[in-house]
Amino acid sequence: MSLTIAIDGPAASGKGTIARALAERLGYAHLDTGLLYRAVGRKTLQGMSPLEAANALTAADLGDADALRAPDVAQAASRVAAMPEVRSALVDFQRAFARRMGGAVLDGRDIGTVICPDADVKLFVTASDAVRAERRFEELRGKGHDVSLQEVAADLAERDRRDAARTTAPLLAAKDAVQIDTSTMSIETAVRTALEAVQAVQAKTE
Ligand code: CDP
Repeated sequence: MSLTIAIDGPAASGKGTIARALAERLGYAHLDTGLLYRAVGRKTLQGMSPLEAANALTAADLGDADALRAPDVAQAASRVAAMPEVRSALVDFQRAFARRMGGAVLDGRDIGTVICPDADVKLFVTASDAVRAERRFEELRGKGHDVSLQEVAADLAERDRRDAARTTAPLLAAKDAVQIDTSTMSIETAVRTALEAVQAVQAKTE
């Protein structure tokens, strides 16, 4: 039986890496929902209004992954993500994706709480502030972005604060989510831990 897997957590916690690995192992489709907000944020930096940008989003807007990863786009994403009208414009697409035949993995901030409250598996992935800043710093430097560790740490802290404080769909672990703290885990261990949570559900539903 194919499952819907919801993965949430703060920035650079490892949720994207886990989501991609699970999707690959299970042969499921994967949606990084952060890219939707990043694409809307990017359009607002180019002068479009947030709602107009959300309504006009196409698959092509999600293609330029490197530009979407830029720190100024991340900040713009978290600002538009606090707007209820932007979030509701993106709900249908995400829910349709989650219902795909053959299984789906979605990662974001509100997947287990708002987008897919009935997901078969819910994971909430965390890591310490210092570890998350270090990971994102390495990732951005590796992609050629000229950033300091302090700037990256400040960017994550500001987004975390905004994402957790907003009234619509704040960053929050669903009550029934399995929590995975990846601070001291290798990628392999984190993926294995996540896979075990999926297999526990598969064993019950088969
Ligand atoms: O990769 P990282 O964890 O840094 O961020 P992301 O997942 O690409 O998300 C960028 C921003 O989009 C976040 O800071 C949130 O404000 C917003 N977001 C959201 O509100 N809801 C989601 N389901 C996904 C992202």
